[in-house]
Amino acid sequence: MEPLARHLAAFGQEHLLAFWEELSPSQQSALTVDIQSVDFQQLQELVAAAPESDIEDLARRAELPPAIRLSGAGNRFSREEARVARVAGVAALKASQVGVVLVAGGQGTRLGFDHPKGMFPIGPLSGHSLYQILLEKVVATSRRHGRPVPVFVMTSPATHDETIEFLQRHDRFGLPEHDLFIFCQGTMPAVDCASGNVLLAEKGRLALSPDGHGGLVSAMTSSRALASAQRRGLKHLFYMQVDNPLVAVCDAELLGHHILCGSELSTQVVAKREPRENLGNVVVVDGRLRVIEYSEFNALPDEIVLRRQENGERVFWAGNTAVHVFGVDFLARCARRGDLMPLHRVKKVVPFVDAAGKLVEPAEPNAWKFERFIFDLLPAAAEAIVVETDPRTHFAPVKNGPGQGRDTPESVKAQMIAVHREWLQSAGIELPQDLPVEIRPLFALDAEGVRERKVPEGLDAPTFLE
Ligand code: UTP
Repeated sequence: MEPLARHLAAFGQEHLLAFWEELSPSQQSALTVDIQSVDFQQLQELVAAAPESDIEDLARRAELPPAIRLSGAGNRFSREEARVARVAGVAALKASQVGVVLVAGGQGTRLGFDHPKGMFPIGPLSGHSLYQILLEKVVATSRRHGRPVPVFVMTSPATHDETIEFLQRHDRFGLPEHDLFIFCQGTMPAVDCASGNVLLAEKGRLALSPDGHGGLVSAMTSSRALASAQRRGLKHLFYMQVDNPLVAVCDAELLGHHILCGSELSTQVVAKREPRENLGNVVVVDGRLRVIEYSEFNALPDEIVLRRQENGERVFWAGNTAVHVFGVDFLARCARRGDLMPLHRVKKVVPFVDAAGKLVEPAEPNAWKFERFIFDLLPAAAEAIVVETDPRTHFAPVKNGPGQGRDTPESVKAQMIAVHREWLQSAGIELPQDLPVEIRPLFALDAEGVRERKVPEGLDAPTFLE
């Protein structure tokens, strides 16, 4: 304990050992491991760093990003361009060049669910979990093209063990064992904003939280997931979050645009519904694409938030859906550079054990968490494109708990039902108004898939097509 105490004292963090004598030997070892995992020098610098004040400057210099629209997303797309892109995307899938990255390490605090968010039951009639729906989409894509589509799932210590147990218990929802690579991301300690003290989650554990979705680059490298992708000959990785059950997994048109444009990093966006929507803003600054996060952006004055280009178009129209396509070579290049993924300071609510040993659950944000953002890679791409999709049909992230406004389980389920009804109707199937239907990915992935299936006539009760 002595060397540990001296080390902590050098950084003013000796309070972390306040309950040492009360801990069992195994708890003491766990605390020692936690403490040794922290780079206190780096932490001290991060806490002392000035807040990121360049957002206003960036937002003033930002220009609107040019975007390609996916079919159905608006009036600018050309059918021929879309067809050519789809052919290129399908060719890559049939050549086994495409894998999937699923980031599932977040703590999902806003949803307030006691398990990893991927286990949340979101199927409106089936009750299927986000993991099931997303992985079955991969399985269905793989069947459609007759080729394996490997999946790389990033977890964190908060989600790792339960995710593995859940996926194994359900036979990986049909994904072959050798096509699933699960790896765990790194963590960063949470620091009390007022005192700069690292927080304790328990008397014998630091409050450690995952280091952001941008932790992907180093976690894929150290776990050798990236090496595995390279060994398998993958060229493109379709990146998605765990919270959007309407995502068009490995969308051939998106992949095709990525390939035909020689893009290293393609980003899917939606037109924001309102200027201060909680979505990152995809813009061009100094000729490079980048994302301006919404938290600080939304606090800027109207004069900036509502800026228009000379042609009248809104600069900040493009909301980041967190669907990307990465070139595998590009990711490998980024992994070799240490400077691309800065840690950002974000203020969050973090429960902690106080000096008296009591668990405190703050009502207001009390602590700094440190996170890397995956979209910080955008400016590093030699070629990067923006592809617009229709939020109504492809974007329904579950973020908040029931009754908490937008992006709730209720709103997402209703949107899934609406989209699945449309697929059936576009195949000529008549449905009574308001009849809930849900379509399992293994039944059909989209409207085209529904047209290839036999659907029972005269549906008149809530139906789960599986
Ligand atoms: P969010 O930013 O929505 O965070 O993550 P969250 O942790 O899920 O939810 P809140 O903010 O605590 O309510 C977007 C995606 O990035 C993943 C999440 O699992 C989700 O798929 N993520 C986030 C990680 O994989 N690691 C992280 O450290 C953070």
